[in-house]
Amino acid sequence: MTAKLNARGDVAVLVPAAGAGVRLGPGGPKALRLLAGEPLLVHAIRRVAASPSVRLIVVAAPAAEVEAVQALLAPVAPVTVVAGGAERQESVGRALAVVPPEIDIVLVHDAARALTPPEIVESVAAAVRAGHPAVIPVLPVVDTIKEVDPGETVLGTVDRSVLRSVQTPQGFRHSVLAAAHASAADPLTDDAGLVEKAGLPVTCIPGSDLALKITRPLDLVLAEALLQLP
Ligand code: C5P
Repeated sequence: MTAKLNARGDVAVLVPAAGAGVRLGPGGPKALRLLAGEPLLVHAIRRVAASPSVRLIVVAAPAAEVEAVQALLAPVAPVTVVAGGAERQESVGRALAVVPPEIDIVLVHDAARALTPPEIVESVAAAVRAGHPAVIPVLPVVDTIKEVDPGETVLGTVDRSVLRSVQTPQGFRHSVLAAAHASAADPLTDDAGLVEKAGLPVTCIPGSDLALKITRPLDLVLAEALLQLP
């Protein structure tokens, strides 16, 4: 049976899922790779749809897979599927274009962060609702980070206490995200970066180890193990 989203929810979640997933090795688009027998995208959408604030989900799928993704997600949750673009930012822009103006809060969530718990979706939305124009879930950086030159010689060691590793969903006032995308020049790897460039504050809240980005083959092994946790 198709899960019903909350008609009184105030949040749209955009899910860019149009990446090729080259770093995961040979195979189809990353969002459609299997994790415990189900595509990453199904895991991601099931968790987003379980978040009570969510009213609309828009997935940006590879252009050749729009109908297949519609069919795949129909039993999971009601979603709108659009064709993604060549860059992640373009995929997000195409999904953003179908969000009606009366929805105040827009989250952007990578399909690759397939195990992100609904609680993180809720806490990001709550922080935007509380008045922050842009909100990102983050974790502390555990590795020592070096800056290097093109020849791989170390230029210096960065103070990691001031660094954060950034996850999704990233949350925005609808108008803030729309303005940031409209004025974007160069493609960036996240949406908060566009808001920073526009000069608005971006607020960090605690992320989750479960929201890891499934990028390399080892991440799939880790994600399978995380699914076994009670
Ligand atoms: O490439 P990267 O790992 O940064 O991709 C992050 C997310 O953006 C993934 O969920 C991927 O499917 C999506 N993406 C997209 N359109 C692209 C490239 C990436 O929707 N052209």
